[in-house]
Amino acid sequence: MYLCTIEWKDNQIKLIDQTRLPRELKYVYIKEPKAFWQAIKTMKVRGAPALGAAAGLGVYLGIKNSRAKNFAQFKKEMDKVSAYIGSCRPTARNLFWGLERMRRVAYQRRNQPIPVIKQIIFREAQNIIAEDRMACRNIGRYGAELIKNNDTILTICNAGILATIDYGTALGVIYRAHEQKKRIKVFACETRPMLQGARLTSWELQKKGIDVTLICDSMAADLMRQGRIKKVIAGADRIAANGDTANKIGTYSLAVLSRYHKIPFYIAAPASTFDPGIRQGKDIVIEQRNGREVTELFFKQPIAPKEVKVFNPAFDVTPRQLIAAIITEKGVIRPPYKANIKKILIDATFK
Ligand code: MRU
Repeated sequence: MYLCTIEWKDNQIKLIDQTRLPRELKYVYIKEPKAFWQAIKTMKVRGAPALGAAAGLGVYLGIKNSRAKNFAQFKKEMDKVSAYIGSCRPTARNLFWGLERMRRVAYQRRNQPIPVIKQIIFREAQNIIAEDRMACRNIGRYGAELIKNNDTILTICNAGILATIDYGTALGVIYRAHEQKKRIKVFACETRPMLQGARLTSWELQKKGIDVTLICDSMAADLMRQGRIKKVIAGADRIAANGDTANKIGTYSLAVLSRYHKIPFYIAAPASTFDPGIRQGKDIVIEQRNGREVTELFFKQPIAPKEVKVFNPAFDVTPRQLIAAIITEKGVIRPPYKANIKKILIDATFK
């Protein structure tokens, strides 16, 4: 079964409503920016690379009916919709990368008639989607070289089809190794509080016929102690210039545990997740989410006393020293990260 997380269809945005998985695979169609903002905020669509595509499609959605008479008016409208979409979730670099990319392409063509600029914006959004499909497959190709036959891999959150357009980053590595007929087993951390590992990762791995076992987050240490985990692979939401990596809350603990148990800990992410403007992990803005995600099961059933104080950061930062390598579409980056990120991603892109 082919799954496409987010696309432009019938003059609107079509996306898989991830809040309904694994109960049902349902698509929603979105016609206006406010509903789109809500869809991102409530994680109907989520995952850093998918949010890069969302930025492109969201900007087009916001300006396609513009009646601006000149570029100055048009730019004002575009800046407004970009700021609105950008106000949704602060951590994933790809969202802002996508918004910046749309603004840049429009500005470069500012002398064209407005209908032409709209078409250019639409094409750029489609380019982001096409590039993501290609990037994930290349991440898979490079990453699969690190995977041995009979490896057992631990992952967290969802860095798969549902976090990208149709293949995945961390799970892309697993899919490629599987396509190469390597026998692999996956342990998926459930990923409290929103359970992306339980609801999404184990669902899509099952659909792909991959041997997956779901665990509670607190079970990872014991599995490692028993020698049952050979590698850990996680995605990323934002990678600082020095290699420090923000990803789903709980990733840092897995990295610490991996170091103690001498298990290689890998990050898999496209170039669009790297933020050369952020020097180190402590400068990354971490999204704080509604405490009810922790005190209630999906806003339905209380599992904690009313009024209890809640700490609910959506992400944490793994220091670069704990990361064995970062798998990208341009190759595998190893320490020293600052120099090698520059060499493999930045310099290679602008050569
Ligand atoms: O809050 P989410 O579900 O958007 O968080 C997503 C993650 O942390 C993923 O691991 C990350 O975006 C990488 S996705 C390829």
